Amino acid sequence: MCGIVGITSNKQVTSSIINSLRKLEYRGYDSAGIATLNDGFINEVKCEGRVDTLEKNLSKIKIEGTIGIGHVRWATHGSPSTVNAHPHSSEKVSVVHNGIIENSTILKKYLIKKGHKFKSQTDTEVIVHLITEYLKKNDLKKTILKVLKKLHGSFALGIIFKEQPDLIVGARRGSPLAVGYGPNENYLGSDSYALKSMTNKISYLNDGDFCIVKKDQVEFFDNKGNKVNKKILKLSSNEQDYDKGDYKHFMAKEIEEQPTTIKNCVNEYINKMSGDINIFNFPWKSNEISSIVLIGCGTAYHSCLMAKYWFEQLTNLDVGVDIASEFRYRKNRFKKDALYIFVSQSGETADTFAALDLCNKNNMKTCSVVNVVESSIARESKFVLPIHCGPEVGVASTKAFLGQMLVLYILCLKFAQMRKEIKKNVYMEKIKSLFLLSKLAKKSLETDSKIQSVCSSFTDIKGSMFLGRGYSFPIALEGALKLKELSYVHAEGYPAGEMKHGPLALIEDGLPVVVLAPRDEYYKKTISNMQEVIARGAKVLLITNKSKDEVHSENIWEKIEVENTSEDLLPFLLTIPLQKLAYYSAFKKGYDIDKPRNLAKSVTVE
Ligand code: AGP
Repeated sequence: MCGIVGITSNKQVTSSIINSLRKLEYRGYDSAGIATLNDGFINEVKCEGRVDTLEKNLSKIKIEGTIGIGHVRWATHGSPSTVNAHPHSSEKVSVVHNGIIENSTILKKYLIKKGHKFKSQTDTEVIVHLITEYLKKNDLKKTILKVLKKLHGSFALGIIFKEQPDLIVGARRGSPLAVGYGPNENYLGSDSYALKSMTNKISYLNDGDFCIVKKDQVEFFDNKGNKVNKKILKLSSNEQDYDKGDYKHFMAKEIEEQPTTIKNCVNEYINKMSGDINIFNFPWKSNEISSIVLIGCGTAYHSCLMAKYWFEQLTNLDVGVDIASEFRYRKNRFKKDALYIFVSQSGETADTFAALDLCNKNNMKTCSVVNVVESSIARESKFVLPIHCGPEVGVASTKAFLGQMLVLYILCLKFAQMRKEIKKNVYMEKIKSLFLLSKLAKKSLETDSKIQSVCSSFTDIKGSMFLGRGYSFPIALEGALKLKELSYVHAEGYPAGEMKHGPLALIEDGLPVVVLAPRDEYYKKTISNMQEVIARGAKVLLITNKSKDEVHSENIWEKIEVENTSEDLLPFLLTIPLQKLAYYSAFKKGYDIDKPRNLAKSVTVE
């Protein structure tokens, strides 16, 4: 994770670096720092904590310079502290780094023998000393090539040099890096968002590339040092999407936006008149695909799991689901007739990217479902399905989860139709339900007051469980993940039918258990499982859909009802109260909802 920025200009750069760092805080927020070059000296200011603290420090220790680099950190090697904060500098160079240097211990030993003194516990500091060492005998370009060859692991780097006061070097392997072009100044940043307030003209480095950024010129090189040309992309401006308006938190705004994002996505993919699904230029014929492998991490993994249920229900395709960090290191038997689908909000998740890269290297059919269409995963996959939900800023994924599920559901319908595995009238019914979904999701938002009244039971607890069967099981996993990441309480999502095989032992008097039991084909079974936990003292919050029939169960603590739709679309409506439950629980505890502890929005380290 971590965010990096670099600016070379004919104006002072400190305040622009601070502004960019604020935008990068979603990538890491345990420490921050800045270094500039001025009058032949490298000046550094760093601190533990947020960019606000860094800015306060900068009001006391003024640093100047028309060239500089900045960093927000998500600690990997060494605790979050001022000394471990980036930039790391020697007398000659200063470096900001996003990634992990896997052979740092070996390199450190070698450098200590050469007389280098280390100040921090970070892996990054070896890069500083390695550059300093190689600069003794090599020119800048040769030094960079040699250093990059020595480093194992992943990195995006920004480097300034005491003796080259007119340039910043950027380099990437594994971690993302963009270059921005401005008037009499150029930039380096972990993503386009960091640079958006300064420019909408962006180029992306490919894996292994490095670049030399001057205020009036940018040169790109591949890993052999050959010059490469880069396309300059023009980004659309959607600054207002990054504003939380009247909401207290981005997460609150993003939850409330869901009916709109559902509507936009449905309109984007489906022709309302004909019911046709607009997935054009799909590079493969449907008979070339007989299985599907869905891969993602965290919430994105949960949407993959959800899609498995849909694909198995509506098509005869074989469906596999994988967590990217497992997939990438397993001995996979790649199948020529499989479509590998990578799901990622950010499109930068290191494990998902590595899994995609592995599939590409094995010549597989790869497709991605992403929110950020300029991302590495989107750029490297052979076909891209955007989720059209606008920037998601809160670390806890909400609208992107619904967006991912929606696109996967639509893709599933498209396959079912192309493979003639769905009857025309059933297909049309499902399309009709999709057009109604946004309105029903709006109703799910109205569960607010009920959630607010129950959430205190989810704050100071030993743990909680989220149970569901069938379509509701991935949603139970997602509900539990949301509660843990925001409220820092143990929450476990479980298939309701699995409880008696162990977890039932956890149930004791007053333990809060969320049971997802919509009136679908699993309903009766789930209600029986619910009885089993109630009988053992659990305090059950039941989430179901509206019905004229009473739930035949006594001693349910609280009940929330969502609207009715087809069984396979109910997961969308059940998700929203769970997002709110996590939100209000964290709010009650006064936690930092948009930036929960130890986490980051874009997970660019493995
Ligand atoms: C969700 O609330 C999490 N913050 C996290 O699990 C996230 O979904 C995961 O890191 C994957 O991110 P991606 O969708 O950007 O690849």
